[in-house]
Amino acid sequence: MLSREDNELLTRIGPGTPMGELMRRYWLPALLSSEIPTPDCPPIRVRLLGEDLLAFRDTRGAVGLLEAACPHRGASLFFGRNEDCGLRCVYHGWKFDVSGQCVEMPNEPAESDFKHKVRAVAYPCQERNGVVWTYLGPAELQPGFPELEWATVPPEQSYGSKRLQECNWAQAMEGGIDSSHISFLHRDKDRDDPTLTRKGSAATKYITGDGAPQFEIVPTEYGMLIGARRKAEEDSHYWRITQWIFPWYTMIPAAGDIPIGGHAWVPIDDEHTWTWSFNWHPSRPFSDEELSTMQAGMGIHCELIPGTFRPVRNKSNDYGIDRDWQASGRSFTGIKGLSEQDAGIQESMGPIFDRSRERLGSTDAAIIQARRRLLTAASDLQKGIDPPALDPAGYRVRSAGLLLPRSAYNWPELARERVQAIPGVFTASA
Ligand code: FES
Ligand SMILES: [Fe+2]
Repeated sequence: MLSREDNELLTRIGPGTPMGELMRRYWLPALLSSEIPTPDCPPIRVRLLGEDLLAFRDTRGAVGLLEAACPHRGASLFFGRNEDCGLRCVYHGWKFDVSGQCVEMPNEPAESDFKHKVRAVAYPCQERNGVVWTYLGPAELQPGFPELEWATVPPEQSYGSKRLQECNWAQAMEGGIDSSHISFLHRDKDRDDPTLTRKGSAATKYITGDGAPQFEIVPTEYGMLIGARRKAEEDSHYWRITQWIFPWYTMIPAAGDIPIGGHAWVPIDDEHTWTWSFNWHPSRPFSDEELSTMQAGMGIHCELIPGTFRPVRNKSNDYGIDRDWQASGRSFTGIKGLSEQDAGIQESMGPIFDRSRERLGSTDAAIIQARRRLLTAASDLQKGIDPPALDPAGYRVRSAGLLLPRSAYNWPELARERVQAIPGVFTASA
């Protein structure tokens, strides 16, 4: 459990909060490139870490991310005109380029140089594999771009989606760290998904066969390497090896030669989260079947209400729970879809879960350590100590599922090569 004070520290992420200041030192996935598909298309609202922003793509294709309020008198630039390499406020015509510089001020005398002195708050953007990333921290402290494998493989080997989650980021992310819940929450006897697990696969058998995995955690510079050991065959253990990476990334091992998965749990504000889901294959393009599965919102992705990022099965309809299906035992939850199962149960904890009321067990060890690392990093930053995991190369890791002899206790060593993201090299997991 956490004290009330630490719970506040962990969950509050707005400007000026210790956790918010920590998060602002990292690059973050902000929106899909497809939300601003063409030059001079309409700007869109983006809310991140409690800040109201606007994204637009200018005439040359460059992406801008500006504070929504116009620096003149605060009108929303959402209503602005995206034209001739800038976004023009429709109140008095001031126009800003992607860097935030005011480039036109048509309601001031032509000889005035006031426009040169006005800048909108603007954040740098980079596009990788269909995702626009940004950095909300101090410009002089901007780190290199994190070399996450899904952002660096060729585009035909990577797929990303996002969904709105109606709860605090930390309880969402803790679900991603927690390798124990998959034996229960995600137990669906009929699941046969080319991006997740094939019906009757060995990994599924081991995961459902042993609901009480032993956890071992190796602290690393980027965060943690987490080994969850389950009984497999008579003489072997199934090790599900995942990473938690500062400040909000979690990874999911592939079972066989299928895409690897990962999530980013990025706060919109204290009570809402963008849950990003990524699949990638290190060494080959997706098959048509894999791609169409992801696009249909299956696997770790989610079926969305068209034109929105709100799941079809959401809080307002109890995630479509089918009590007969649940009672039949074919599905543990009666809720269709992995994402919906996760979202449903995480949102059911309330907008911001009060961790002073929880009772943690041994399988919560990784969650306990991740919280501790985050709280320490946030309070260190207040004392002027730089955050961990700012080295772009530190992100070159991937998850793995391994079958190891029961006598093997040095799993981090045995898994060493399998958890490195070596470009183009992939050994299928158990
Ligand atoms: S408020 Fe935007 S130009 Fe006046
Ligand atoms: Fe889950």
